[in-house]
Amino acid sequence: MMSAQWKEAVLKRGKPKILWEGEPLLGSIYDEEEIEAAVGAIRESIDINAGFGFSSARIIEFEQAFAKYLGVKHCVAINSAGPGLDMAMRYLNLQPGDEVIVPAINFVAAPLAVVGAGGQIVWGEVDPDTLQLDPNDVEKRITHRTRAIFPVHMNGLSAPMDDLVELGKRYPHDQHGPLPVIGDAARACGGAYRGEKIGKKGLMTVFSFHTMKNMTTLGEGGMVATDDDDVAAFMRSTRFYGYDLDIWGSSFVMTKVQAAVGLVQLRKLDDFIAARRRLALRRHELLADVPELTLPIEPDDCVHSYYLYTCLICRKWAGEKRDKLIKMMFEEYGVKCLVANPPAYTVRKYLRDRTPGQRLPLSEELGARLFCVPIHPIMSDDDNERICASLLDCIERLRRE
Ligand SMILES: Cc1ncc(COP(=O)(O)O)c(C=O)c1O
Repeated sequence: MMSAQWKEAVLKRGKPKILWEGEPLLGSIYDEEEIEAAVGAIRESIDINAGFGFSSARIIEFEQAFAKYLGVKHCVAINSAGPGLDMAMRYLNLQPGDEVIVPAINFVAAPLAVVGAGGQIVWGEVDPDTLQLDPNDVEKRITHRTRAIFPVHMNGLSAPMDDLVELGKRYPHDQHGPLPVIGDAARACGGAYRGEKIGKKGLMTVFSFHTMKNMTTLGEGGMVATDDDDVAAFMRSTRFYGYDLDIWGSSFVMTKVQAAVGLVQLRKLDDFIAARRRLALRRHELLADVPELTLPIEPDDCVHSYYLYTCLICRKWAGEKRDKLIKMMFEEYGVKCLVANPPAYTVRKYLRDRTPGQRLPLSEELGARLFCVPIHPIMSDDDNERICASLLDCIERLRRE
């Protein structure tokens, strides 16, 4: 823990210079290079025989560059991760009653995709240390109706993919064989697991380039990554009205301008992640040994991308006192912490109504304890220190209440 003198000296410098949000509205950094790439792609597109669209060489170039970055065979560029998750669930051809196991500590997109494809959500508990879907818990929830395991690489860290894939092999479905593991890496672009980038393991992985994410393609965008030829063909066909395979489809295509910007962002992605990591490592030092706080951990086999810096407050401070801490941080220091995410069924009636009787005590407890302290690759070391000193100050004062 840093000394009281350190904290007082930092607090004297004043509030952080920027209004920091738990999940800043622009997650990456843009400069002239992205603007030039976008303008260049627009110029190319204003030829009536070129246009912006889906068959452009830029999109193929972006897909190939992303596939190379991940070390996978295929990447399929799409307009947003949500449709990618929907397509992933549609690929399973779920029948009424078929079950998909998703972590309860989750954004709503993956569970909604299960329902949208006609499946039954089965909520899984997470490992409280990593907030990732817990394979031991998944094992207890597998039935003869289970069709897939659907982890989210929560807040920038990898899910334990090898363990989940192994489980899928150990409990094959009667008709469909090993349970596929499908990853939602919307928040984890650029992270790594066992020496490979997140996106290499499992049947397929869906990425988001939404404006808040680690890299972004003009606010919306996504990618499906896979080593499986069948999955890739299904995704290419479904993202454009089911052409080629003559199946159901719609339009989930990315534009040429987005792909041109994506190529630039991808080249910078590792630097963005390195900046996030540097801030996180310093923060681990500054906030170490505060009895009320558990800091995010990085297992030895993972490289955390720190999309979010997720802390847990002690059990005694769960709920109201955690919320008070968040309020103090904002009102007194202008730092907006975020609760990402409580169990998805607690925030969405639609999901709650479709999972009657499924309540997960551990995830609910974690949902009342977690909060994310802002982090972003442009954050200065000075602001990082000011944020940490503010947090220490708020905790010390709350301790006396
Ligand atoms: C975990 C997770 N999954 C899926 C999505 C959906 O991504 P998109 O906005 O690209 O559709 C998001 C975020 O927006 C997310 O955080």
